[in-house]
This record gives sequence, C-alpha cells and structure tokens, in this order.
Amino acid sequence: MNDADDETNLKEAFDESRTLIRFAGNNYLGLASASILKEAAGEALSRYGVSVAASRISTGTEKIHVRLEKALAEFMAREAALTFASGYLGGMILLSALSAQYDDVFLDSMAHPSLRDGIPREKQLYEYATLDVEDLRQLLRKHDRGRSLIATDGLFALTGDIAPLERIHKLAEEFGAMLVVDDAHAAGILGANGRGTLEFFGLENAQNVYQTGTFSKAFGGFGGFIAASGELIDAIFRNARAFGGSTALPPVMAAADLAAIEWVRTNPESRKNLLQLSEYSRSELCCLGFKTGGTGSPVAPLYFNTLKEAESLSQFLLEHNIQVPYFNYPVKTGNYALRMTFSLCHTESQLKYLFKILKKWKGQK
Ligand SMILES: Cc1ncc(COP(=O)(O)O)c(C=O)c1O
Repeated sequence: MNDADDETNLKEAFDESRTLIRFAGNNYLGLASASILKEAAGEALSRYGVSVAASRISTGTEKIHVRLEKALAEFMAREAALTFASGYLGGMILLSALSAQYDDVFLDSMAHPSLRDGIPREKQLYEYATLDVEDLRQLLRKHDRGRSLIATDGLFALTGDIAPLERIHKLAEEFGAMLVVDDAHAAGILGANGRGTLEFFGLENAQNVYQTGTFSKAFGGFGGFIAASGELIDAIFRNARAFGGSTALPPVMAAADLAAIEWVRTNPESRKNLLQLSEYSRSELCCLGFKTGGTGSPVAPLYFNTLKEAESLSQFLLEHNIQVPYFNYPVKTGNYALRMTFSLCHTESQLKYLFKILKKWKGQK
C-alpha cells in the first residue's frame, strides 16, 4: 500500500459520518461504553476533577484509589493491589520491585514490549522461541545461574495464543526460577472468576509467580494494576521508581475501573458467552478457508503469506463498513496477520454480515 492509499484508509476509518462495525481492539466484554462505567466516571468527575496532578506517593492518593485497590485485591484473591496510569508501566514496576531477587531473564520472544522495556538494564536477557517450553528448557540448562526469572504474556495479543503456563511453571520450579506473567489480555475474561491465566491454570497459589494486568482491555476502563502479597505491594509503593515517579490514575478512571470490577465479578456468564461467541466465529472463519488461531480467546488472527493480501482484505472490509485495521504490531511474527477480535457487543446480525463479506472477498480473489 502506498502513502496515498494509506491516507485514504485512515480518512475512511476516521470519517465520523460513517458507522463502522469494529472487529478489532480489546473491548472484549463491551464495557468500554457501558452506562455503569460512564455514570461512575461522571460522578467522580464532578467530585475529583480530571486529574489529581500528583504522584501516589505525594498528594495523589484519593479515597477512590483506596476503594479500587481494596476491591481489586478481593477480586484477584490477593492480600493487596496497586493501580497506576497504564498497563505498560506494569512490567517495569514489577520487574524493578523484584530486581534484587534475579540476575537473568528468560523472555518469550513474542512477549509484549512493555515486559521487554521493563527489564532493568543490568540484567542478562535470553529469549526463547515463543511458546516453546523445550527451547526455554535448553536455554535454562545452558545459562541458569540459580537466580533466573522467566517472563511471558499470559494471552498473546496478536495471536490469541495462551502461554503453556503449567509447563513453564514446572520448569520454573525445577530451576528455582521466578515467573512473571503479563496478563493484560486475560484479566477479566480467563479463569473461573476472571482473574486471568494464573487462575486458568490453577497457579494462583504457586510460589514465586507474579502477574500484571490492565483495566484498559476487558474491563473497558483504563490503567494498569498489580495484585500481590501485602509485602510486595508495600515495597512497590515505597520503592518502585516508575510507580512513585508517575502521576496517579485519574480518579475518574479509578471510579470506572471500580464499576467494571463489580460488573465482571457479578456477571460470570459473560466470560462463557464471550468464549462461545469467539469459538463459533473462529469455526466460521475456518469454514471460509481462513488460516486462524487463538483457540480459547476472543482474538482470531487471520494469517496471510503476504502483506498485500492482509492489507487488501483490511481495505475490502473497510469498503463494506467493517474495521479490522492492518497494523504492524510491535512483536515479531513470521506471518502477516490481521488482528480480528470479538466482543460481547457484537450482534448475531453483525457477525453474519462479517462472514458474508469475508465470503465475498474469498470469492473474488
Ligand atoms: C500484552 C500487553 N501488555 C501491556 C499492555 C499495555 O497496557 P495499557 O494499554 O493499559 O498501557 C498492552 C496493551 O496494548 C498489551 O497488549
């Protein structure tokens, strides 16, 4: 696609007079525009204003932060929790808080950049082939010095793959390594209570296993979080530079996040419905002859051998008022993928329309 085409594509995507059906983004449960979140945010806006304009360790802690973190700790079944301005900060905050306990980091090669960027400079980094537990084992055998940390996404954003955490955890135990999971995409939708991949794999009570999350995806709100032992949360509050050195989550968002937790907690069927809708859609995509993946998640990437094919489908969909933008997602893959995602917002007729247009594209290729 040349620059001019690119511009047309963008203009169409942002033409406010057009209604687009979006099969993209991370609004998995449809909460981002839910009235309960809007109302909670509205009330907080008139009470607190738009920002506290201060760090949490200074004057930036309001009652709403304390209430949110209490509810979050309960939801995640942990002693304590902390929230901060973005999920991207989570890796940096957690990896720096744990930094006295490890020297070597073994990172999944497709891990989100926030984990990679969060690794302290003085640590030695080794990358294992994505999802490949045997490769990880070989690397640990070769390089482990007894103070290792393994880091991976729980649910990979682009592919929808779920990390084989049961096996990774076994390896971690074998080598006495710590395990850090970026659960941005699984929090709120995976596990019986929506606590993410650690719950999904029954690892919630495992020793030396840690998790970060975000409100900006399934919860439909905004801001990152860590739920952990009281001791670790206390250490983060006192010592983590990225936490203390950044402005607190705006109270408006804290209020929306609190409403979202309550909704996720009291609507367990939403997780089942989302996964059912996603599995149904994935099987339709397969029937239409698309190469896809991400079983068990609301992400269904459409894989192509060439960039041209991926971009041409994205453009074709847009011409039919469906938005699945092609973008060069910031992780390495061997394929060109259109990141298609499903949400509880999608109606049956929207899904039918999507499959009809995809069939049309296949037919005229
Ligand atoms: C795996 C993963 N981790 C972290 C983040 C960052 O979260 P946030 O958007 O809340 O900063 C993202 C968001 O794109 C993500 O996909």
